[in-house]
Amino acid sequence: MARILITSAIPYINGIKHLGNLVGSQLPADLYARYMRGRGHEVLFLCATDEHGTPAELAAAKAGKPVAEYCAEMWEVQKELSDGFALSFDKFGRSSSPQNHALTQHFAGRLADAGLIEEVAESQVYSNADGRFLPDRYIEGTCPNCGYERARGDQCENCTKQLDPTDLINPRSAISGSTDLVVRETKHLYLRQSALKDQLAEWIDSKTDWPILTTSIAKKWLFDGDGLQDRGITRDLDWGVPVKRGSEPWPGMEDKVFYVWFDAPIEYIACAKEWTDAAGRPDADWERWWRTDKGADDVRYVQFMGKDNVPFHTLSFPATIIGSSEPWKLVDYIKSFNFLNYDGGQFSTSQGRGVFMDQALDILPADYWRWWLLSHAPENSDSEFTWENFQSSVNKDLADVLGNFVSRVTKFCRSRFGEAVPSGGAFGPDEQALIERLQTGLPAYEAHMEAIEVRKAAAELRGLWVAGNEYLQSAAPWAAFKEDPERAAASVRLALNLIRFYAVISAPFIPDAAARMLSAMNTLDMEWPDDVSESLAALPAGHDFTVPDVLFRKITDEEREEWQSRFAGQR
Ligand code: MF3
Ligand code: ZN
Repeated sequence: MARILITSAIPYINGIKHLGNLVGSQLPADLYARYMRGRGHEVLFLCATDEHGTPAELAAAKAGKPVAEYCAEMWEVQKELSDGFALSFDKFGRSSSPQNHALTQHFAGRLADAGLIEEVAESQVYSNADGRFLPDRYIEGTCPNCGYERARGDQCENCTKQLDPTDLINPRSAISGSTDLVVRETKHLYLRQSALKDQLAEWIDSKTDWPILTTSIAKKWLFDGDGLQDRGITRDLDWGVPVKRGSEPWPGMEDKVFYVWFDAPIEYIACAKEWTDAAGRPDADWERWWRTDKGADDVRYVQFMGKDNVPFHTLSFPATIIGSSEPWKLVDYIKSFNFLNYDGGQFSTSQGRGVFMDQALDILPADYWRWWLLSHAPENSDSEFTWENFQSSVNKDLADVLGNFVSRVTKFCRSRFGEAVPSGGAFGPDEQALIERLQTGLPAYEAHMEAIEVRKAAAELRGLWVAGNEYLQSAAPWAAFKEDPERAAASVRLALNLIRFYAVISAPFIPDAAARMLSAMNTLDMEWPDDVSESLAALPAGHDFTVPDVLFRKITDEEREEWQSRFAGQR
């Protein structure tokens, strides 16, 4: 048994996330966490809300609420939606937690002690119209790297380049739109990432098994142009982690907070400290997940994120950890994703274009979305959601293949043998062929899951469902029943066991349906089918079951058309 620490990029607090956000980190992370638990490993799966910085302040201002109150409310909303999608976080924390405040200040203190923090008098954009500095997203303009016209002051969404507000061409205030901007001097703390460049490069070079998407982005920011730049880690904002050197005040920094991208990844660690059991007791041993001197050298740490997050996880956060010279766990594997587009364009939060998590659950249960999103995850390139494709995947894979199998088998058995696993008969060549098919397909599925090849795993799983249907078609117990009821009994016994088998191996993708399949089979036995033939005898003759309600319904053409126009924009 291994110990596996899994984190998903923590979503910004500002509003409900769309399906593109979901499939880029939280959902595949959940798939992996569920799979690893299913294989008997000890898993700690962490996520949280990313509550600081300009996105939170701007959204709170728009909602007309104090930012702390806005964040508390939106955390509840996001928590409920993540439960709705069956995301099995062991802890869904908050980057505004006291634990994160303390750890963030601790890291800053360590970095300062190591000489890795520099005070820099810098030019900041000040808006006369707004009467304030405009850090990060408070400012928008044209990207100097790619020419994208709606680049934000912290990063260009289009080319992922990390920016400073003063880099933008034709800058304007995101609050008022004003272009009456001046540059003023203020003092800020910089993390001397450039001093850690060689250590970071060596560390990245040692990660020969990482996806190319991950290492190519890291290497680009390490070596392109002038190489790795030092990063400002403080901001002139009210909301955030106050700048302190450990627990000591930081002279000259009294009115400043740490930059959101400095404290957000530290929340991965703080989140483990925030965890409590049902009785509200924290885990006194949480460091066994995070400190290599406290047992975490045995932990495999896997992170999930969209490609725009890769520079922060391959360079900035590791710089914080390495620079602290303390034995914190560094990530072992980074799984990154491209973007999911929506019906011929992009998802757009501002225009309400595409399907958002709350809307998705209003129209269909989570498993329908989980299956489509995971089986079409944007792994090797950007991918696209279309309603036609969604309808056809749901109707074919879930309704016609898996759902139909479960319904046919259970109904046929009920009508001919009653609601218990039938006895008698023996397996013949058809059964043997099916078992052999599963004996090669299951290890292939497992290998894709271990490698976090999400699409390939989904395709293999679908193949195993199809094999069951093909078996049923050729064994045709309804025809066999007339001349040879014993043969039909043996087929149905195998097929009922196959329902349990499918429930166990499909649970990481479609946990609710899997639970309903198990409950129809009247069993709690979730044991992974390490031995396929043995596991296909788990439900013995005489074991009671019930016919479940329809597992997956079909999406009609009328629904598809209605949804397509409903989600076209202007939420
Ligand atoms: N909130 C960021 C985003 O949605 C992700 C933060 S991940 C962390 O892009 F590393 F900072 F935690
Ligand atoms: Zn750009």
